[in-house]
Amino acid sequence: MQQAEIGLIGLGVMGSNLALNIAEKGYRIAVWNRTTEKTQAFADAAGVLSERIVPCETLEALVSAIRPPRPIILMVQAGAAVDQQIAALRPLLSADDILIDAGNANFRDTMRRFGELEGSGLTFIGMGVSGGEEGARHGPSIMVGGTQASWLRVRDVLTAISAKFRDEPCVAWLGRNGAGHFVKTIHNGIEYADMQMIAEIYGILRDGARLDTEAMARLFEQWNGGRLESYLIEITAKVLAASDPETGRPMVDVIVDSAGQKGTGRWSVIEAQMMGVPATAIEAAVAARGLSALKAERAAAEEFYGAPVTGFDRRDIREAVDDLELALFAGKIAAYAQGFAVMQAASKEFDWGLPMATIARIWRAGCIIRSQFLDTIAEAFEGAPPANLMAAPRFVGLMREAVPALRRTVARAALAGIPVPALSAALGYFDAYRAARGTANLVQAQRDFFGAHGFERIDRPGAHHGPWGG
Ligand code: 6PG
Repeated sequence: MQQAEIGLIGLGVMGSNLALNIAEKGYRIAVWNRTTEKTQAFADAAGVLSERIVPCETLEALVSAIRPPRPIILMVQAGAAVDQQIAALRPLLSADDILIDAGNANFRDTMRRFGELEGSGLTFIGMGVSGGEEGARHGPSIMVGGTQASWLRVRDVLTAISAKFRDEPCVAWLGRNGAGHFVKTIHNGIEYADMQMIAEIYGILRDGARLDTEAMARLFEQWNGGRLESYLIEITAKVLAASDPETGRPMVDVIVDSAGQKGTGRWSVIEAQMMGVPATAIEAAVAARGLSALKAERAAAEEFYGAPVTGFDRRDIREAVDDLELALFAGKIAAYAQGFAVMQAASKEFDWGLPMATIARIWRAGCIIRSQFLDTIAEAFEGAPPANLMAAPRFVGLMREAVPALRRTVARAALAGIPVPALSAALGYFDAYRAARGTANLVQAQRDFFGAHGFERIDRPGAHHGPWGG
């Protein structure tokens, strides 16, 4: 029998869709899953594509079904399962075979795995894949980390299965070892911020402007035709328009307001903190998920503090709603600026040489944060990269136009008691970033007062102490 050109392990939602995508692009693929029934059921349900799918009952069968040197994609749960899978495969593989971890791995695990496999003859690739089920099936955005030589060996198949933005494939080699998984982590941090800020705008519409979900859906749909055009705005309009088949109520109204998280957003904030890069809007978004999970505590607190929210005055509703599109846009720019700043710092820290414009370009289609806006970001990073996205000439103009609406929106929300942690973090970041004179002079004085830490003076060089003694 003709041998497969590639293998895939893990037929969960992402794995099975990725396998179908690969088969559809003309590659013969061998697949294996821990439970054999799942492997067979997958092949049986693949329709015409099943002729290019080789279901394997054992790992040995999988390995011998693939033509060496074998590229094998691991699509198993991030963490210990990846290590176990690598350990099980290692004795079966030959030098030059390529293991590709396509899960949402912590890039520090990926770095460790690169180290462990060094000298084994095997090649390892850490690959971020974004786009959910639909993306995996019809074209995800793919962020590759590993040696350039290993990338060249898998480039064709990854290019074939990737999303396309105006015919440009949304896949790229981003750097050595953990680069691909790091960039995917930051993608998810930005995804968290994007989603949280959209949810805060929804909160203002629901509790401030007291709009019904149908009206909100129309608004989001309208915004999706303008500067906010993006996948997340598009699905928000659809979500808001959906009704619960059981009760007939708006679907969002029957969903419990406690959000889950699997860790990637948190990792992006941890890494930002480790490098001392402010990523406040992303932090706020991660923290908001944490707060959302404290459902019982929140209900109890509302009992003793009273409901926080007062609706907007009827006369102000129109203006308040009119501000939201630009407010969200300004918040979004600040959050993306933070995400890209974290990547710029990591690029230096880990010596990756991350290509910022390329990253923006491969996020334009296929991934969860895909949008037209990323095309503008790609342009901003073309050539000499700006110190910060908000310092790129094009973005200076965009922020000047949008920040007043963000400021009014955050102020209105604060007065009405509507929580907008990510939007206000974005505003605070902007205000602090563009202030030539901040307030850290006082912090320096305090540090010197209690710990003799010293400070710089504005009028002469050197380390100085204040006249606090005695
Ligand atoms: C993507 C998504 C995807 C997934 C994550 C985030 O880019 O396709 O980010 O990886 O949605 O698991 O999920 P949590 O919200 O559960 O952390």
